[in-house]
Amino acid sequence: MIYSRNRRLRVNASIRSLVSENTLSTNDFVMPIFVMEGQNKQEPIDSMPGIFRRSIDLTVIECKELFSLGVKAVNLYMKVSDTLKDNTGKEAWNKNGLTQNAIRAIKDAIPEMILMPDVALDPYSIYGHDGIIENGKIVNDATNDALARMSVSLAEAGADIMAPSDMMDGRVLVIREALEESGFTDVGILSYSAKYASSFYGPFRHALDSAPVDHENIPEDKKTYQMDFHNSREALNEVYKDVEEGADIIMIKPGLPYLDIVAKVREAIDLPIAVYHVSGEYAMLKAAAQNGWLDNDKAILESLTCFKRAGADMIFTYAAKEAAILLNK
Ligand code: PBG
Repeated sequence: MIYSRNRRLRVNASIRSLVSENTLSTNDFVMPIFVMEGQNKQEPIDSMPGIFRRSIDLTVIECKELFSLGVKAVNLYMKVSDTLKDNTGKEAWNKNGLTQNAIRAIKDAIPEMILMPDVALDPYSIYGHDGIIENGKIVNDATNDALARMSVSLAEAGADIMAPSDMMDGRVLVIREALEESGFTDVGILSYSAKYASSFYGPFRHALDSAPVDHENIPEDKKTYQMDFHNSREALNEVYKDVEEGADIIMIKPGLPYLDIVAKVREAIDLPIAVYHVSGEYAMLKAAAQNGWLDNDKAILESLTCFKRAGADMIFTYAAKEAAILLNK
């Protein structure tokens, strides 16, 4: 005789919803957005169907739409012209730079929108690296000083939370100190603590034209700073250091192939955890859906819910807008 039947709690949608352990909501989403120079301009990103680069005016309209759908945070990325790039990334702290202007414009239009600009030098680097290069190496401490200058400049423009994605050692502390010294005690740090050197960033680098350049004496990949995907204990090491240095939120990236890391970090710390459903994951899903091999809407809601099940509090995803529309139905 079988008395214990797990299927009893699955017989209809009502009972399934009563015993449901995790819920996905628009409160969980952070939408990454790509900004470019110009007026009334919008360019599709081929490798990321449904995603665009937009000039600031159209970005503001998009942000208003996102906010009204319940998406209350955006992560900002800039496509700057090649003429503004150099080895120091100094355009990143230009008071009137594209990022600073975008932050001011969005804040002005939607003060409650949480703005989390990316803090890294790659979109501003002629070499496409997240750090300054000397003698063929990415130098750690000089890069940290640049990231601190960049952070203060972004905070001055009105950003709420710095999102350093560079993976230099000790940068959370250097950024925290610079923010405190400049009076930005309420500006937070969401640290990409466990960011792996991943092939899943391909479509993003295409979107920003930010891939490491093929150049003599320039590292061809980011493996000397981003983590090795063979490792998981090392992720905890990275996370503990960033917590100690004053991070407010911890990020794990990429997402779906790294849910073991999300679950492990969830066990280890009590700070909020963010996870990044990266460009390559989004592109794979869209490619399959466009071929009719996957149900787009179901696959998106399932993928995003799996992040919650693994223990994430917030999800950076290019599918945030369409998922919000689905959840609001
Ligand atoms: C760069 C940065 C990258 C992403 C976010 N910030 C790419 C990289 O490290 O080369 C990837 C995001 C994505 O693939 O969606 N600092």
